[in-house]
Amino acid sequence: MERRQFVKASAAGAVILLAGKAVQASGPDNGPLRRMAKINSLVNEDNPTVLEKKHVPLVTVPKSVVKGKWFQVRVKVGFMIEHPSKPAHWIDRVELQVGGKKVAEIINVAGGITSPNACFNIRLDKPGDVKLEAVADCNIHGTWLSEPVYTRVT
Ligand SMILES: [Fe+2]
Repeated sequence: MERRQFVKASAAGAVILLAGKAVQASGPDNGPLRRMAKINSLVNEDNPTVLEKKHVPLVTVPKSVVKGKWFQVRVKVGFMIEHPSKPAHWIDRVELQVGGKKVAEIINVAGGITSPNACFNIRLDKPGDVKLEAVADCNIHGTWLSEPVYTRVT
């Protein structure tokens, strides 16, 4: 391929890629693209913004759990004001992380029917203090990370 043809082909490919991104970014469900974007979290716990109150997840776990036994992890979105669940604005995904790694997620494909909250039943096999966090995606306001909580596995 001559240099001129290569440049033409590369430019055409770049336009297609850019056009594809533009379509995804402007569509009503830009979840995958949004999930690659910034992860929001609580900036000042003494003075949370309204968006933070409605979107930062609150994780609730027992202070201690028994190794190998199922227990519940509850995630409330948001931590101070319940996030709306309306046909055009809802929490479309809640992810649970254990020790910084994703272990489960709930996908809500429609607003107005599904709760912004989630409950996971998990078990842990290694004794010690374990960090749990949640990530919630709002279809309009993006991705939000909880404050970490800890449980002791005995
Ligand atoms: Fe929202």
